[in-house]
Amino acid sequence: MKTIVISLGGSVLTPSLEENRVAVYAEVLRAISQVYKTFVVIGGGGEARRFISAARALGADEATADEIGIMVTRLNATLLMIALGNEVYPRVAESPREAVEYAYKSDLVVAGGVTPGQTTDTVAAVIAEESHASCIINLTSVDGIYSDDPKLVKNAEKFSELTPEELSLIVGKTPLCAGSNTVFDSVAVKILARSHIPLLVLDGRDPDTLQKAVLCGSHRGTIVRSPEINLPF
Ligand code: UTP
Repeated sequence: MKTIVISLGGSVLTPSLEENRVAVYAEVLRAISQVYKTFVVIGGGGEARRFISAARALGADEATADEIGIMVTRLNATLLMIALGNEVYPRVAESPREAVEYAYKSDLVVAGGVTPGQTTDTVAAVIAEESHASCIINLTSVDGIYSDDPKLVKNAEKFSELTPEELSLIVGKTPLCAGSNTVFDSVAVKILARSHIPLLVLDGRDPDTLQKAVLCGSHRGTIVRSPEINLPF
């Protein structure tokens, strides 16, 4: 069985607690884990940013603000774990090593953030290296990678394919601070480059997009890969 790692942004899983996509994603992930050993790393989304701002306003340093963000990622991951019932390993992994250990016992493992100074994209990239994954899928709130943030720049160009080095130039412009947001974080991009693991960036606002990509090989996202490295589907 091949392995895939999915980085599922909190902003698409739980845009709000009232209107969340947790149950729908649980369905899709169940189907995917029948075919691939699946790690899902959950982000903190808007809720993490709200907690981070509140902590900063009270005088928190950046590392403490990161710790707050990590707590929120784990809360979101716990919601998904509840929805998956007995089809997932029944604990949220708190380190890449723990995630890989859990995968000996289950084909579906959920993780959140692990350490300050990064985002869950880096967690996903490290798990992908340690589990020898065939690819990483990043589910985010845009439909691929653009030359600039398409929510801010009207004429931003969408790429269908990039190398890790090209992506590094795009995301390297954003400073690293708690709650900062890029399409895939810059440390994670460096890990992609060294490990030659391909990345597929997809619109996570429709969970069907993930199912169609992994189970039918059809998508309209952006692939990031070194030459001659292919996706497993
Ligand atoms: P996310 O991974 O959710 O950041 O972590 P994000 O890129 O904003 O993702 P979306 O919006 O969910 O798609 C939220 C915050 O938690 C802290 C960081 O402060 C990050 O910005 N964090 C997360 C860490 O410090 N370490 C981690 O391993 C993960």
